[in-house]
Amino acid sequence: MLRARALCNLPWLLLCHAAAVSRAEANISSMLAPQENRVLVLGEWEERWQEGRIGFHQPEVHRMLENNLDKVLAGRTGVCFFFPLCGKAVDMKWLADMGHSVVGVEISEKAIKEFFEENNVTYSEEPVPAIPGAKVYKGTERNISLYQCDLFNFSSSVEGQFGAIWDRGSLVAINPRDREKYAALITSLMAKDCRCLLDTLLYNPELYPGPPFFVPDEQVQSLFGNSCDIELLQSADTLTDRHRGWGLDYLTENVHLITPKST
Ligand SMILES: C[S@@+](CC[C@H](N)C(=O)[O-])C[C@H]1O[C@@H](n2cnc3c(N)ncnc32)[C@H](O)[C@@H]1O
Repeated sequence: MLRARALCNLPWLLLCHAAAVSRAEANISSMLAPQENRVLVLGEWEERWQEGRIGFHQPEVHRMLENNLDKVLAGRTGVCFFFPLCGKAVDMKWLADMGHSVVGVEISEKAIKEFFEENNVTYSEEPVPAIPGAKVYKGTERNISLYQCDLFNFSSSVEGQFGAIWDRGSLVAINPRDREKYAALITSLMAKDCRCLLDTLLYNPELYPGPPFFVPDEQVQSLFGNSCDIELLQSADTLTDRHRGWGLDYLTENVHLITPKST
């Protein structure tokens, strides 16, 4: 009897669920509207590097990576880390010095060369047959390979899948309209035991055009939630005078741990 009643209610429950999903989607769209059409072409990033407009670069290891490294490693050694949109992040040298290997992708050749030179790592350079026009720069005495190409030309056929991913300045830097494509690429690069640390920024997108772009937690959920578990590990107020100069009145940095759902 009870089972029959529950079955009668099923269409109604499904309708309610569909309505809730579409309300959530509408809510995300309205939050994203101020920045949804903002587009930077790759040449603009290369110009930023040529002109030294790289305020995103941090000379020290990122505090949130340092604080959460144990959760990323989960007891593993010799992990292969992927750095999408790597810039010249010193975090790569820090992890390689611990015995991990690092693969990064970056469009700017200047950024890649500066990474090796500033960290005193000698390197070799070779073409990548699988990606026309791309080059890979490989550290001689450290296991670091940096691919100079558009991230969207990179795939698991180049270096396989990864045991860890550090996404800082990546999801928040790609054009907002490319986020679904980005999430599909990142999930395709995750090994079954992959632990991805994703750094996002919350601020009022009416006040600043980005990049970095505003990425609400609801969108992290809609991008990765179908195939991955998501845990918010840390949230910090990171507003500085630099950000006040952009016109922002608050800035929250969130770090999420994203892991493939076990099937
Ligand atoms: C905000 S910076 C972050 C760099 C680095 N992750 C860090 O934390 O310092 C974004 C970087 O991505 C590079 N970039 C932007 N779009 C790219 C793309 N589609 N493919 C490869 N690199 C890209 C830019 O040149 C820039 O160095």
